[in-house]
Amino acid sequence: MKKTIIITGGAGFIGSHVVRLFVNKYPEYQIVNLDALTYAGNLENLTDVANCPNYTFVKADITDYEAISAVFSQYKPDGVIHLAAESHVDRSITDPFAFIRTNVMGTCNLLHVAKELWKGQMEGKRFYHISTDEVYGALEKDGTFFVETTKYDPHSPYSASKSSSDHFVRAYHDTYGMPVVISNCSNNYGSHHFPEKLIPLAINNIKHNRPIPIYGKGENIRDWLFVDDHARAIDVIFHTGKDGDTYNIGGNNEWTNIDLIRLLCSIMDRKLGRAEGESAKLITYVTDRAGHDLRYAIDSSKLQRELGWKPSLQFEEGLEKTVDWYLANEAWVDRITSGAYQQYYEKQYTNR
Ligand code: NAD
Ligand code: DAU
Repeated sequence: MKKTIIITGGAGFIGSHVVRLFVNKYPEYQIVNLDALTYAGNLENLTDVANCPNYTFVKADITDYEAISAVFSQYKPDGVIHLAAESHVDRSITDPFAFIRTNVMGTCNLLHVAKELWKGQMEGKRFYHISTDEVYGALEKDGTFFVETTKYDPHSPYSASKSSSDHFVRAYHDTYGMPVVISNCSNNYGSHHFPEKLIPLAINNIKHNRPIPIYGKGENIRDWLFVDDHARAIDVIFHTGKDGDTYNIGGNNEWTNIDLIRLLCSIMDRKLGRAEGESAKLITYVTDRAGHDLRYAIDSSKLQRELGWKPSLQFEEGLEKTVDWYLANEAWVDRITSGAYQQYYEKQYTNR
């Protein structure tokens, strides 16, 4: 069936994997990647699909209501998969307002523009909001998990802004009958991950023999999911998720930060031909993140039971694949650290 789908944030880490999956898997769909190309947006993530006939890139900022309205009028989407966000917790601590603008106001703009476009004809439409497990707050080291009914308890400006956007999505469903679905996912890892986040930062620092900063004692626990498994879950939920429902997505794969980094160091030693234990000498304990949540752990049994999704990769295998990608794509990281990636759009998409 022909459909036009707007994917917001498609130039980012997870968004680029979702765009690639949809463009390749659904040639009958028109995929419109709507992205403002902030520091986190990188069109070089999508060079392999850039010339596909069912792919279009539109540079637009979700905080700009008029601009978004114009894009929706032009493309008349049947579906929206909304990933665009400010996503880095540390940045939310230094500049919370950027997170309020994009994650709260931007999401409300998209909801309202979609509501106006779909007014009176919601049948067959879908607004899919991609959210995070961080909205549920922090768990103790007690074996409990976040389920879909866990009370929201955000602690960082990032998670508060994502919580707020989730509430607005549900409010548009309950008030205006918007056909929405939400998913809350745990930490992703894989290729094209911006090198400010723990795993790609550590890979890059190890490669260059620079210190690996570990916040606090490294005892915080995250549940890691390979990014392609998240993209597959998004595909399944977009197509078969129940209207108005929420699905948790996770890897059932908990690691303390320090154990994860030790594993990464030993993989890097092997890949770089270093003596075992060499890279681990770079581990450096630094001041803890303010309000640092102790543990996240997702129960994704609803998604597995109702929609038949399950994670495909063991962590060791996924981490090794990730390291291989970063070592084979050093130029990708170098163009980010030099800032060169930000000129790509001008070179490819404008006449300047
Ligand atoms: P990212 O930071 O890598 O990418 C964000 C993308 O959004 C970038 O391409 C950026 O240019 C775009 N963007 C930012 N502000 C925009 C604006 N105002 N208008 C239009 N585009 C804008 O993020 P990510 O890690 O890929 O996360 C994507 C989504 O998934 C986010 O909503 C995030 O909250 C959620 N999420 C992420 C993870 C994770 O582990 N990374 C886990 C669960 C949920
Ligand atoms: O849980 C899902 C969330 O995962 C997403 O919603 C966020 O968008 C995404 O950024 C991620 O948030 P985290 O804060 O968990 O990811 P980050 O890679 O920043 O940090 C992972 C853990 O590592 C966390 O406990 C903080 C710690 N850390 C992070 C960095 C950048 C360090 O110890 N040192 C570091 O330098």
